[in-house]
Amino acid sequence: MARVLVVGGTGLAGRAIAAEAVERGHDVVVASRRVPDDDSTAYVPGAVYATVDLITGDGLEEAVEGMDVLIDASNGVGREASHTFIAGSQNLLHTAARFGVGHAVLLSIANVDRSAYSYYRAKAAQERTYHDSPIETRIVRTTQFHDFLASIFASGARIGVIPAFTKVHFQTIAVPDVARILVDAAEGGGPPNATRTVGGPRIQSSRALAEAWKAATGSRAVIAGVRQPGALGASWRAGDNLAPDQAIEGIDFEKWLSATV
Ligand SMILES: NC(=O)c1ccc[n+]([C@@H]2O[C@H](COP(=O)([O-])OP(=O)(O)OC[C@H]3O[C@@H](n4cnc5c(N)ncnc54)[C@H](OP(=O)(O)O)[C@@H]3O)[C@@H](O)[C@H]2O)c1
Repeated sequence: MARVLVVGGTGLAGRAIAAEAVERGHDVVVASRRVPDDDSTAYVPGAVYATVDLITGDGLEEAVEGMDVLIDASNGVGREASHTFIAGSQNLLHTAARFGVGHAVLLSIANVDRSAYSYYRAKAAQERTYHDSPIETRIVRTTQFHDFLASIFASGARIGVIPAFTKVHFQTIAVPDVARILVDAAEGGGPPNATRTVGGPRIQSSRALAEAWKAATGSRAVIAGVRQPGALGASWRAGDNLAPDQAIEGIDFEKWLSATV
Protein backbone atom coordinates (compact mmCIF):
# COMPACT_ATOMS: atom_id res chain seq x y z
CA MET A 1 0.00 0.00 0.00
CA ALA A 2 1.29 3.47 -0.89
CA ARG A 3 0.21 7.04 -0.33
CA VAL A 4 -0.80 8.25 -3.79
CA LEU A 5 -1.52 11.86 -4.75
CA VAL A 6 -3.76 12.10 -7.84
CA VAL A 7 -3.35 15.60 -9.24
CA GLY A 8 -6.36 16.55 -11.33
CA GLY A 9 -8.16 13.67 -9.66
CA THR A 10 -11.58 15.30 -10.08
CA GLY A 11 -11.26 15.26 -13.89
CA LEU A 12 -12.34 12.61 -16.36
CA ALA A 13 -9.16 10.53 -16.22
CA GLY A 14 -8.20 11.58 -12.69
CA ARG A 15 -11.45 10.27 -11.17
CA ALA A 16 -10.90 6.85 -12.72
CA ILE A 17 -7.26 6.83 -11.58
CA ALA A 18 -8.27 7.76 -8.02
CA ALA A 19 -10.96 5.03 -8.03
CA GLU A 20 -8.49 2.43 -9.34
CA ALA A 21 -5.89 3.37 -6.70
CA VAL A 22 -8.50 3.23 -3.88
CA GLU A 23 -9.69 -0.15 -5.23
CA ARG A 24 -6.11 -1.49 -5.04
CA GLY A 25 -5.90 -0.48 -1.38
CA HIS A 26 -3.74 2.64 -1.64
CA ASP A 27 -4.22 5.75 0.51
CA VAL A 28 -5.39 8.28 -2.04
CA VAL A 29 -5.35 12.06 -1.86
CA VAL A 30 -6.94 13.94 -4.76
CA ALA A 31 -5.66 17.44 -5.57
CA SER A 32 -7.57 20.04 -7.59
CA ARG A 33 -8.68 23.64 -7.26
CA ARG A 34 -12.27 22.66 -6.46
CA VAL A 35 -13.27 19.89 -4.09
CA PRO A 36 -16.38 17.97 -5.23
CA ASP A 37 -19.46 17.49 -3.05
CA ASP A 38 -19.79 13.90 -1.91
CA ASP A 39 -22.89 13.41 -4.07
CA SER A 40 -21.01 14.61 -7.18
CA THR A 41 -19.98 12.14 -9.92
CA ALA A 42 -16.45 13.51 -9.47
CA TYR A 43 -16.33 12.25 -5.87
CA VAL A 44 -14.50 8.96 -5.28
CA PRO A 45 -15.49 7.32 -1.98
CA GLY A 46 -12.41 6.43 0.03
CA ALA A 47 -10.27 9.27 -1.35
CA VAL A 48 -9.32 12.38 0.64
CA TYR A 49 -9.56 15.76 -1.08
CA ALA A 50 -7.07 18.64 -1.01
CA THR A 51 -7.52 22.08 -2.52
CA VAL A 52 -4.46 22.80 -4.66
CA ASP A 53 -3.67 25.27 -7.40
CA LEU A 54 -0.67 24.03 -9.40
CA ILE A 55 -0.06 27.43 -10.97
CA THR A 56 0.00 29.55 -7.80
CA GLY A 57 1.27 26.69 -5.64
CA ASP A 58 -1.50 27.25 -3.08
CA GLY A 59 -2.06 24.11 -1.02
CA LEU A 60 0.71 22.17 -2.80
CA GLU A 61 3.10 21.65 0.12
CA GLU A 62 0.32 20.34 2.37
CA ALA A 63 -0.85 17.98 -0.39
CA VAL A 64 2.52 16.43 -1.28
CA GLU A 65 3.76 16.04 2.29
CA GLY A 66 3.98 12.35 3.19
CA MET A 67 3.17 11.09 -0.33
CA ASP A 68 5.08 8.16 -1.84
CA VAL A 69 4.08 8.81 -5.44
CA LEU A 70 2.05 11.27 -7.48
CA ILE A 71 0.05 10.78 -10.65
CA ASP A 72 -0.51 13.92 -12.73
CA ALA A 73 -3.81 13.93 -14.65
CA SER A 74 -4.27 17.69 -14.60
CA ASN A 75 -5.46 19.59 -17.63
CA GLY A 76 -5.78 23.15 -18.82
CA VAL A 77 -8.05 24.87 -21.30
CA GLY A 78 -7.04 27.53 -23.84
CA ARG A 79 -4.26 29.83 -22.71
CA GLU A 80 -4.33 28.33 -19.24
CA ALA A 81 -3.05 25.02 -20.66
CA SER A 82 0.55 26.17 -21.01
CA HIS A 83 0.55 27.62 -17.46
CA THR A 84 -0.86 24.42 -16.01
CA PHE A 85 1.40 22.15 -18.03
CA ILE A 86 4.65 24.09 -17.69
CA ALA A 87 4.62 26.32 -14.57
CA GLY A 88 2.21 23.94 -12.81
CA SER A 89 4.38 20.87 -13.47
CA GLN A 90 7.53 22.67 -12.37
CA ASN A 91 5.86 23.73 -9.11
CA LEU A 92 4.53 20.23 -8.58
CA LEU A 93 7.77 18.35 -9.23
CA HIS A 94 10.04 20.72 -7.32
CA THR A 95 7.70 20.76 -4.32
CA ALA A 96 7.45 16.96 -4.50
CA ALA A 97 11.27 16.71 -4.52
CA ARG A 98 11.57 18.96 -1.44
CA PHE A 99 9.07 16.80 0.43
CA GLY A 100 10.69 13.48 -0.54
CA VAL A 101 8.03 12.10 -2.88
CA GLY A 102 9.61 9.02 -4.52
CA HIS A 103 8.36 9.30 -8.05
CA ALA A 104 5.84 10.88 -10.40
CA VAL A 105 3.70 9.52 -13.24
CA LEU A 106 2.40 11.79 -16.01
CA LEU A 107 -0.59 11.13 -18.24
CA SER A 108 0.25 12.38 -21.73
CA ILE A 109 -0.83 11.95 -25.35
CA ALA A 110 0.52 9.61 -28.05
CA ASN A 111 3.05 11.33 -30.35
CA VAL A 112 2.31 14.69 -28.72
CA ASP A 113 5.72 16.05 -29.71
CA ARG A 114 4.99 15.65 -33.44
CA SER A 115 2.31 18.32 -33.74
CA ALA A 116 2.40 22.13 -33.95
CA TYR A 117 -1.10 22.31 -32.40
CA SER A 118 -0.70 24.78 -29.49
CA TYR A 119 -2.25 22.53 -26.83
CA TYR A 120 0.06 19.70 -27.91
CA ARG A 121 3.07 22.03 -27.84
CA ALA A 122 2.23 22.90 -24.24
CA LYS A 123 1.78 19.22 -23.42
CA ALA A 124 5.14 18.36 -25.04
CA ALA A 125 6.74 21.09 -22.91
CA GLN A 126 5.16 19.45 -19.87
CA GLU A 127 6.79 16.16 -20.87
CA ARG A 128 10.18 17.91 -21.07
CA THR A 129 9.59 19.25 -17.55
CA TYR A 130 9.05 15.66 -16.44
CA HIS A 131 12.22 14.53 -18.30
CA ASP A 132 14.19 17.22 -16.41
CA SER A 133 12.49 16.41 -13.12
CA PRO A 134 14.46 16.25 -9.86
CA ILE A 135 12.57 13.03 -9.00
CA GLU A 136 12.09 9.75 -10.86
CA THR A 137 9.29 9.92 -13.43
CA ARG A 138 7.29 7.70 -15.76
CA ILE A 139 5.33 9.15 -18.68
CA VAL A 140 2.37 7.23 -20.06
CA ARG A 141 1.14 8.50 -23.43
CA THR A 142 -2.26 7.32 -24.60
CA THR A 143 -4.41 7.74 -27.68
CA GLN A 144 -7.67 9.72 -27.48
CA PHE A 145 -10.26 8.60 -24.94
CA HIS A 146 -13.60 7.17 -26.18
CA ASP A 147 -15.24 10.07 -24.28
CA PHE A 148 -13.32 12.61 -26.39
CA LEU A 149 -14.88 11.40 -29.66
CA ALA A 150 -18.29 10.92 -28.06
CA SER A 151 -18.30 14.51 -26.79
CA ILE A 152 -17.36 15.84 -30.25
CA PHE A 153 -20.20 13.80 -31.80
CA ALA A 154 -22.65 14.96 -29.12
CA SER A 155 -21.71 18.64 -29.63
CA GLY A 156 -22.18 18.31 -33.38
CA ALA A 157 -25.46 16.43 -33.01
CA ARG A 158 -26.89 19.33 -30.99
CA ILE A 159 -26.74 21.40 -34.20
CA GLY A 160 -27.82 18.49 -36.39
CA VAL A 161 -24.47 17.31 -37.78
CA ILE A 162 -22.25 14.51 -36.48
CA PRO A 163 -18.76 15.20 -37.86
CA ALA A 164 -16.90 12.40 -39.64
CA PHE A 165 -13.39 13.80 -40.06
CA THR A 166 -12.19 13.04 -43.58
CA LYS A 167 -9.04 10.92 -43.95
CA VAL A 168 -8.83 10.51 -40.16
CA HIS A 169 -8.70 7.35 -38.09
CA PHE A 170 -8.73 7.07 -34.32
CA GLN A 171 -7.63 4.37 -31.91
CA THR A 172 -9.70 5.42 -28.94
CA ILE A 173 -9.15 3.96 -25.49
CA ALA A 174 -11.35 3.51 -22.42
CA VAL A 175 -10.53 5.70 -19.44
CA PRO A 176 -10.69 2.74 -16.97
CA ASP A 177 -8.00 1.01 -19.09
CA VAL A 178 -5.90 4.19 -18.93
CA ALA A 179 -6.39 4.33 -15.16
CA ARG A 180 -5.22 0.74 -14.72
CA ILE A 181 -2.01 1.44 -16.68
CA LEU A 182 -1.33 4.69 -14.80
CA VAL A 183 -1.70 2.99 -11.42
CA ASP A 184 0.56 0.13 -12.61
CA ALA A 185 3.19 2.79 -13.40
CA ALA A 186 2.67 4.42 -9.98
CA GLU A 187 3.28 1.01 -8.41
CA GLY A 188 6.66 0.95 -10.18
CA GLY A 189 5.66 -0.95 -13.33
CA GLY A 190 7.94 -0.36 -16.33
CA PRO A 191 11.38 1.22 -16.41
CA PRO A 192 11.92 4.53 -14.55
CA ASN A 193 12.52 7.80 -16.41
CA ALA A 194 10.96 6.31 -19.53
CA THR A 195 7.95 6.96 -21.74
CA ARG A 196 5.40 4.25 -22.52
CA THR A 197 2.77 4.66 -25.26
CA VAL A 198 -0.53 2.78 -25.21
CA GLY A 199 -3.29 2.73 -27.78
CA GLY A 200 -6.87 1.56 -27.74
CA PRO A 201 -7.75 -1.93 -29.02
CA ARG A 202 -8.89 -0.97 -32.56
CA ILE A 203 -8.11 1.55 -35.27
CA GLN A 204 -11.36 2.80 -36.82
CA SER A 205 -12.24 5.50 -39.31
CA SER A 206 -13.80 8.63 -37.92
CA ARG A 207 -16.94 7.78 -39.96
CA ALA A 208 -17.21 4.27 -38.47
CA LEU A 209 -16.98 5.76 -34.98
CA ALA A 210 -19.62 8.38 -35.86
CA GLU A 211 -21.93 5.63 -37.17
CA ALA A 212 -21.46 3.57 -34.01
CA TRP A 213 -22.21 6.62 -31.85
CA LYS A 214 -25.32 7.50 -33.89
CA ALA A 215 -26.62 3.92 -33.68
CA ALA A 216 -25.99 3.69 -29.92
CA THR A 217 -27.56 7.06 -29.08
CA GLY A 218 -30.41 6.96 -31.61
CA SER A 219 -29.44 10.45 -32.71
CA ARG A 220 -31.33 11.82 -35.72
CA ALA A 221 -28.47 14.13 -36.71
CA VAL A 222 -26.80 13.46 -40.04
CA ILE A 223 -23.23 12.26 -40.36
CA ALA A 224 -21.26 14.62 -42.59
CA GLY A 225 -17.67 14.64 -43.78
CA VAL A 226 -15.70 17.47 -42.19
CA ARG A 227 -12.10 18.43 -42.86
CA GLN A 228 -10.53 19.25 -39.50
CA PRO A 229 -8.52 22.44 -40.05
CA GLY A 230 -5.17 23.52 -38.66
CA ALA A 231 -2.28 21.70 -37.04
CA LEU A 232 -4.58 19.31 -35.19
CA GLY A 233 -6.24 18.20 -38.43
CA ALA A 234 -2.84 17.77 -40.09
CA SER A 235 -1.58 15.58 -37.26
CA TRP A 236 -4.74 13.44 -37.32
CA ARG A 237 -4.55 12.98 -41.12
CA ALA A 238 -0.86 12.02 -40.77
CA GLY A 239 -1.91 9.29 -38.33
CA ASP A 240 0.11 10.80 -35.48
CA ASN A 241 -2.82 10.15 -33.13
CA LEU A 242 -2.37 6.39 -33.57
CA ALA A 243 -0.18 3.83 -31.84
CA PRO A 244 -0.76 0.69 -33.98
CA ASP A 245 2.07 -1.30 -32.37
CA GLN A 246 0.93 -0.49 -28.83
CA ALA A 247 -2.72 -1.54 -28.99
CA ILE A 248 -3.99 -2.99 -25.73
CA GLU A 249 -6.69 -5.60 -25.27
CA GLY A 250 -9.18 -3.28 -23.65
CA ILE A 251 -12.73 -2.02 -23.93
CA ASP A 252 -13.43 -0.96 -27.52
CA PHE A 253 -15.67 1.94 -28.59
CA GLU A 254 -18.79 -0.18 -29.27
CA LYS A 255 -18.52 -1.99 -25.95
CA TRP A 256 -17.90 1.31 -24.18
CA LEU A 257 -20.96 2.85 -25.90
CA SER A 258 -23.20 -0.03 -24.86
CA ALA A 259 -22.11 0.39 -21.24
CA THR A 260 -22.23 4.21 -21.23
CA VAL A 261 -25.11 5.42 -23.39
N1 LIG B 1 -9.00 13.58 -23.64
C1 LIG B 1 -8.19 12.71 -24.23
O1 LIG B 1 -8.59 12.04 -25.19
C2 LIG B 1 -6.78 12.51 -23.70
C3 LIG B 1 -5.97 11.52 -24.26
C4 LIG B 1 -4.67 11.32 -23.77
C5 LIG B 1 -4.22 12.11 -22.70
N2 LIG B 1 -5.03 13.10 -22.19
C6 LIG B 1 -4.51 13.91 -21.10
O2 LIG B 1 -5.14 13.50 -19.91
C7 LIG B 1 -5.07 14.58 -18.95
C8 LIG B 1 -6.40 14.65 -18.21
O3 LIG B 1 -7.42 14.95 -19.14
P1 LIG B 1 -8.93 15.01 -18.66
O4 LIG B 1 -9.76 15.19 -19.88
O5 LIG B 1 -9.21 13.89 -17.71
O6 LIG B 1 -8.93 16.39 -17.83
P2 LIG B 1 -10.17 17.17 -17.18
O7 LIG B 1 -11.38 16.31 -17.14
O8 LIG B 1 -10.24 18.49 -17.84
O9 LIG B 1 -9.68 17.36 -15.67
C9 LIG B 1 -8.63 18.24 -15.36
C10 LIG B 1 -8.29 18.14 -13.88
O10 LIG B 1 -7.20 19.04 -13.61
C11 LIG B 1 -7.57 19.88 -12.51
N3 LIG B 1 -6.87 21.16 -12.66
C12 LIG B 1 -6.91 22.00 -13.71
N4 LIG B 1 -6.14 23.08 -13.46
C13 LIG B 1 -5.59 22.89 -12.24
C14 LIG B 1 -4.70 23.65 -11.43
N5 LIG B 1 -4.22 24.84 -11.82
N6 LIG B 1 -4.35 23.16 -10.21
C15 LIG B 1 -4.85 21.97 -9.79
N7 LIG B 1 -5.67 21.19 -10.51
C16 LIG B 1 -6.05 21.66 -11.72
C17 LIG B 1 -9.10 20.00 -12.63
O11 LIG B 1 -9.74 20.39 -11.44
P3 LIG B 1 -10.04 21.95 -11.09
O12 LIG B 1 -10.48 22.59 -12.36
O13 LIG B 1 -11.06 21.91 -9.99
O14 LIG B 1 -8.73 22.49 -10.61
C18 LIG B 1 -9.44 18.54 -12.95
O15 LIG B 1 -9.37 17.76 -11.78
C19 LIG B 1 -4.73 15.84 -19.75
O16 LIG B 1 -3.42 16.26 -19.44
C20 LIG B 1 -4.82 15.40 -21.21
O17 LIG B 1 -3.88 16.04 -22.03
C21 LIG B 1 -6.30 13.30 -22.64
